[in-house]
Amino acid sequence: MWKLLRRVFFLMDAERAHVMTMQIMAAGVRLPGMALLFKHWFCLEDDRLKTDVCGLVARNPVGLAAGFDKDGRWLDVLACLGFGHVELGTVTPRPQPGNSKPRLFRLPLDRSIINRMGFNNEGAEALARRLRHFERPAGFVVGINIGKNKDTPEDRAVDDYLSCFHTLAPHADYMAINVSSPNTPGLRKLQEREPLNRLLGSLSDANRKLSKPLPLFLKIAPDLDPSALCDVVEVVRQNGFSGIIACNTTIGRPSGLREQSTAVETGGLSGQAIQALAQSRLSYLHSIGGDLRLIGVGGIATAEDAHLRMAAGARWVQLYTGLIFEGPMIVRRINAGLLKKGFNGGSASTITNVS
Ligand SMILES: Cc1cc2nc3c(=O)[nH]c(=O)nc-3n(C[C@H](O)[C@H](O)[C@H](O)COP(=O)(O)O)c2cc1C
Repeated sequence: MWKLLRRVFFLMDAERAHVMTMQIMAAGVRLPGMALLFKHWFCLEDDRLKTDVCGLVARNPVGLAAGFDKDGRWLDVLACLGFGHVELGTVTPRPQPGNSKPRLFRLPLDRSIINRMGFNNEGAEALARRLRHFERPAGFVVGINIGKNKDTPEDRAVDDYLSCFHTLAPHADYMAINVSSPNTPGLRKLQEREPLNRLLGSLSDANRKLSKPLPLFLKIAPDLDPSALCDVVEVVRQNGFSGIIACNTTIGRPSGLREQSTAVETGGLSGQAIQALAQSRLSYLHSIGGDLRLIGVGGIATAEDAHLRMAAGARWVQLYTGLIFEGPMIVRRINAGLLKKGFNGGSASTITNVS
């Protein structure tokens, strides 16, 4: 069924198809009785899938990566698709339109995507307003990923993150700090030791002042080399962050891409083409990260992919591109596959010992 629908959607412009699919699903799920039917089709409930990260107990370890629902418009649909957590955003303090279109490109033969969206979003206030009215199902964790506006000078970036943090902290289960999108000029420079230390220090101070501080995660690019990763880990630990989300899209173009004519588009590459890179970055982070919590993302589309990422140290996994290519049954399929592999609450021994 999805294969047929995908053929139709893939005839359309990628961004239009994305919005239209979600509008159709949202209209569907809001019809009487349909939410229950969606849950019956797409959700897999099993206590063995419950996975805790920093005290947040998700109903399963599979989450939706940032960028899919930047403005929290589709939360009710996403809850019915069975995700254990959803990361909203990236959101910026002020609304902004993002880059000019087209800015989203499919590479079907590589099961990958290139995007240069540029943080198109309605701003932090709009997201906060929506979240005030959203009733969270049990075990459905909502993270919020924050960034800076394109026209904010680099030396004022910290103010943007703090502004988003203050507006959105009351509505988030965790906060993800995005310094790794390739589509906002200068953003990735914030991954360097000094600016990163200033940014994380300020956010950490703000977090400590909350009556209930949130788990804070840093989302990093897969393009950092081992010495840069060591710096990042040190800064993250020094500032009391809970963990790292590895990773965002890559500006690299791995050899062997089959869709060469699309691969020349500027932007971040995601999906199967970055799977090996994301896996190796996560393994390395695990080897140097001590007790930091890791969320693995990049090219995950099957239970085997999720299992490998968890065996390499991820506690939760996230996906985006896999959902586009595999369709809405993907979460259920991954969770069913994990159970078959003996998954039980994500304890490290359960993951690493299964064959
Ligand atoms: C169209 C698109 C938009 C994205 N937007 C964001 C974003 O706003 N913030 C962010 O942190 N990551 C963003 N990402 C990156 C994803 O969250 C994820 O890290 C990356 O795509 C790798 O996962 P995947 O291979 O499962 O897609 C975006 C990815 C895509 C494909």
